[in-house]
Amino acid sequence: MKIAIDGPAGAGKSTIAKKLAGELGFVYLDTGAMYRAVALKMLNLQIEPTDSKRVEETLEKTAIEIRYENGVQKVFLDGWDVSEKIREHAVSKAASDFSALSCVRIKMVELQRELAEKRNTILDGRDIGTFVLPNAEIKFFLTASVDERAKRRHAELSAKGMNCSFEEIKRDIEQRDYNDSHREFAPLKKADDAITVDTTSMSIEQVAAHMLAIVRKKEA
Ligand code: DC
Repeated sequence: MKIAIDGPAGAGKSTIAKKLAGELGFVYLDTGAMYRAVALKMLNLQIEPTDSKRVEETLEKTAIEIRYENGVQKVFLDGWDVSEKIREHAVSKAASDFSALSCVRIKMVELQRELAEKRNTILDGRDIGTFVLPNAEIKFFLTASVDERAKRRHAELSAKGMNCSFEEIKRDIEQRDYNDSHREFAPLKKADDAITVDTTSMSIEQVAAHMLAIVRKKEA
């Protein structure tokens, strides 16, 4: 079984996907991490997203691997574990820019389909239900108001000791929403057959319980 969870940045996709995967004994695949790894490589080499030819050439010589260590997804870029590094603020923005390039998406989608094929998998991203796995048995579209998503991201960064203003985070989220949903190739979009879950005034536990009930019903 494949479960697709799509939605904008900060809607709670990865937290919920991890929880559901744990409950159901599924593998969780965080597809955003792959785009983040691509972005990190390009940032390291100072390649601009406007230089799609160089991006494409560089990707041919780039190894992005997903491994699971004690059930936790790790991302390796050219053999290095970059799982922490890709969470940095600059990488988030660059991931949104580089993920708009079709040469990047084609390569990542191929890898995602290959990984999902092997086992029961929950994938989170922007285009899982519409493009990566249009035949996924269950599709969710997770959303929340911009203010709520910015509030969550702000709390997350503050807890890590990172000093960021709420307004700046909110602006970044709005910009990423716009980028991700206006790109030409496989934009962020709710699949026609996806179930929308607005998490604005729900706790993580409530969202997880709600979605789990839907999955269990489908499984029965
Ligand atoms: O989910 P995330 O914030 O880690 O994703 C980082 C960026 O990667 C996001 O701004 C858009 C892009 N992305 C994408 O285009 N398609 C996906 N399936 C997942 C992420």
